[in-house]
Amino acid sequence: MTSSTADTNPAEHATSYPPSAEFVAAANAGPELQAAADADRLGFWADQASRLHWHEPWSQVLDWSDAPVAKWFVGGKLNVAYNCVDRHVQGGHGDQVAIHWEGEPGDSRDVTYNELLAEVSRAANTFTELGLVAGDRVAIYMPMVPEAIVSMLACARLGLTHSVVFAGFSASALRSRIDDAEAKLVITTDGQWRRGQAAPLKAAVDTAVDGAESVRNVLVVQRTNIDVEWTEGRDIWWHETVATASPEHTADAFDAEHPLFILYTSGTTGKPKGIIHTSGGYLTQASYTHHNVFDHKAGKDVYWCTADIGWVTGHSYIVYGPLSNRATQVVYEGTPNSPDEHRHFNIIEKYGVSIYYTAPTLVRTFMKWGHEIPDAHDLSSLRLLGSVGEPINPEAWRWFRDVIGGERCPIVDTWWQTETGAIMISPLPGITATKPGSAMAPLPGISAKIVDDDAKPLGAGGNGYLVLDEPWPAMLRGIWGDMERFKDTYWSRYAEEGWYFAGDGARYDDDGDLWVLGRVDDVMNVSGHRISTSEVESALVGHHSVAEAAVVGAADETTGQGIVAFVILREGAENTGETLISELKVQVSTEISPIARPRQITIVPELPKTRSGKIMRRLLRDVAEGRDLGDTSTLVDPKVFDAIRGK
Ligand code: WTA
Repeated sequence: MTSSTADTNPAEHATSYPPSAEFVAAANAGPELQAAADADRLGFWADQASRLHWHEPWSQVLDWSDAPVAKWFVGGKLNVAYNCVDRHVQGGHGDQVAIHWEGEPGDSRDVTYNELLAEVSRAANTFTELGLVAGDRVAIYMPMVPEAIVSMLACARLGLTHSVVFAGFSASALRSRIDDAEAKLVITTDGQWRRGQAAPLKAAVDTAVDGAESVRNVLVVQRTNIDVEWTEGRDIWWHETVATASPEHTADAFDAEHPLFILYTSGTTGKPKGIIHTSGGYLTQASYTHHNVFDHKAGKDVYWCTADIGWVTGHSYIVYGPLSNRATQVVYEGTPNSPDEHRHFNIIEKYGVSIYYTAPTLVRTFMKWGHEIPDAHDLSSLRLLGSVGEPINPEAWRWFRDVIGGERCPIVDTWWQTETGAIMISPLPGITATKPGSAMAPLPGISAKIVDDDAKPLGAGGNGYLVLDEPWPAMLRGIWGDMERFKDTYWSRYAEEGWYFAGDGARYDDDGDLWVLGRVDDVMNVSGHRISTSEVESALVGHHSVAEAAVVGAADETTGQGIVAFVILREGAENTGETLISELKVQVSTEISPIARPRQITIVPELPKTRSGKIMRRLLRDVAEGRDLGDTSTLVDPKVFDAIRGK
């Protein structure tokens, strides 16, 4: 089982933290939620779906006859953008701020629901003008600017399927995603602000779309004013098209199963998987979880999720969940330390943020910077904290609660995945007595088990695999263009039982509370980002000097895991030492992204392999983490380690 920074031997009877009586009294979710789900699971989800506006009602809650492809709210029709924007304006809340946007250089902008509706309508009119029709794919490669959210919503409004690509990905990663989805439009910005510098972004798009057959247009938002190359006929400015388009647009309704977005994520092979999410079930669960897990109160709370829209957390908990619940939220463009380490706390103070949802890696970074930084601020507006992306170690959890949360804010440690679309396992803040490091229990309406290799459910204490044994509304509907891989990756392990295999290890403690332990496959988790070992390996092998590469995730105090690579050089390649190693690091950054850049690369004469030729990653991880080697008896040549260690 993959280790991570989470304590693998959790303090079972760790102090638990019940919510205050005051929190309980005002909480959105009470015990009746679980009771309702237990009494009638599908009826429960129908009730949750009714929180949305449907243009046409559904005739059946779930059709699982074509498992593992689910249909939720069969026959129902809705418009996702209408639910996130128009509905609130029509309800008389047009003047409410939807987005407090904070730019990195210190500029800021408030966008009300009225303004959001006008912007989304303008963008929708422009996309239509460009000839896009429902079902077409649009790639969005943008920093955290309001136009990114507007673009996603305008796609949703027209039934265009968006594929958001994290703006930290390289041109080559962008290209493969554009090609795979056959995107017709790419939306980007001229550049992006990074630690006070304007870095080019459109330039990467120019490289990516060169020769890309599907792409007809590149729509460019002016953000940094840096010079850009321009291809007449293909490139268009946002401020010359969207900004001047009509702000009137009537939203059509789409089928509940209409594909809303594709989001690429790393799997165990080098090729990223395009995870498909649809409309009705996805929005139902994103909305339900945002309302109950974050105890969100429309018109009162100021919510801030620090993720980037390039990841699923940004999709479900910046765009669709919060906006469907009429949130007022902070969206911040930059890094937590620009211009200095006070930035997040300044923002919390400035807007009176009450709900703050972030990643363990950032909490650990804050710890490293020291409590004096948050202590210098009035953080009393906070009333709830959330964590996502990787197991949160109890030490970081306690620090988060004490230093940031003033010992009063409940923490929701939310387990979910790109594939699950929305939160699956989490405390409910008005009910659960939380334990540092435990995601606690599946939410009402969700069913999960921890099982062994033979599908036997495990009780207290046993380490096993996390499976989801009932379909859920926001579940993925497939992998774009590769339904075989979809079945193989998630549904073949427990085919007979028909369970979804999550790829995570987990255990129950003596109280029956659930602890997620980390990935059990070749997926690494670096600062909450999923990166596959083989993706990094193929980038390394792409360098002319490298014959073979093996990559492992090694425990890292701040980032959860760090990427450690072992490479064998080609016959005749010159080993220039540090020069070559930095070249290889650059190679990975340009092939994939700086987030995939190995922390350490070691040039070795040989790699440890089994007799069948499989690289023994477990042993390499032992080396990378400085442990004694376990069983090496299946190796062809146990002596390879002397050479590896000798380096
Ligand atoms: C890990 C992010 C422990 C897990 C929403 C999962 C977590 C992968 C938690 C999905 C958590 C996410 N506790 N582990 N609270 N949240 N993970 O697709 O390994 O980027 O399988 O989705 O992150 O990462 P993804």
